Amino acid sequence: MTDFPTRRLRRLRGTPALRRLVAEHDLTPRRLVLPVFVKEGIATAQPIATMPGVSQHPLDGLAALVDEAVAAGIGGIMLFGVPEHRDAVGSGATDPAGILNRAITVAAAAARGRITVQADLCLDEFTDHGHCGVLADDGSIDNDATLEVYARMAVAQARAGADILGLSGMMDGQIAACRAALDADGRTDIVLLAYSAKYASAFYGPFRDAVESTLTGDRRTYQLDAANGREGVQEALADIDEGADIVMVKPAGTSLDVLARVSDLSAVPVWAYQVSGEYALIEHAAASGLIDRDRAIGESLIAIRRAGAEAILTYWAIEVAGWLRAGRDLT
Ligand code: PBG
Repeated sequence: MTDFPTRRLRRLRGTPALRRLVAEHDLTPRRLVLPVFVKEGIATAQPIATMPGVSQHPLDGLAALVDEAVAAGIGGIMLFGVPEHRDAVGSGATDPAGILNRAITVAAAAARGRITVQADLCLDEFTDHGHCGVLADDGSIDNDATLEVYARMAVAQARAGADILGLSGMMDGQIAACRAALDADGRTDIVLLAYSAKYASAFYGPFRDAVESTLTGDRRTYQLDAANGREGVQEALADIDEGADIVMVKPAGTSLDVLARVSDLSAVPVWAYQVSGEYALIEHAAASGLIDRDRAIGESLIAIRRAGAEAILTYWAIEVAGWLRAGRDLT
């Protein structure tokens, strides 16, 4: 017997105790952030058909949800507003009485500093055409006119009480524009989370139901082409140059390579967003008996962590935090 393996990599996989001991990565509740949809003009939570287990929340229900998030030990909530009225320039986004700004105030009052309150900074929920920016006369997205609106939105969200602004519109220069506006308003404390490498994706489909998106067409002139990895890295580095405090990659599951590269190069924290379609795929497949739901959730999250995400936005945040508190392993 001379040609036996001298390297036996299976040795460390031999028992559950060994596997647990040598696992390179794990998750903790503080690394999870829950996206929350707050809808104007509803009295009770409304389930989102394409996202089993996720609802649109009334403003009134938000304080209880914040308490639940605090009890779960997660790192924060990311708020999205679903307004009753939309217009060409997304006025509801900058209006202090707009649904998202009101939700921020309610959430911040309930949180009392125990958890971070984060807000989506983008126009798509507020424009009647559904684009993330304002339109020029020829129907194209006017990047620089949009920056002015984003800057006012940033100040409105800061005044409403947000801790972290999630800039998801993919306009060039949006980080610098919002940073300058906030600093001029005396808000040097507000943290900017840049959705730096945000890919145009079919996996946002259920989200568009969740926010009742009116978009016809697509976002390919501003969101990244899934064929491009290097460009995602460049977006993250540009955002860091502009002053981003945190950079993010999304969708997480289809961008693990970009996430790993950004994580290697970034001097600021790197997060990932496990988006609505990734959530829906697993929920619907599990409901059809095709996969083991909990194992698929755990595996999807640990893979995102392994690729380098320090925090993950996921619709399973509260549930998974419960598993982790109970000492359950994700794999
Ligand atoms: C834009 C925004 C989107 C998502 C987060 N912020 C939608 C889009 O770009 O079309 C998607 C999140 C998800 O799918 O869970 N405000």
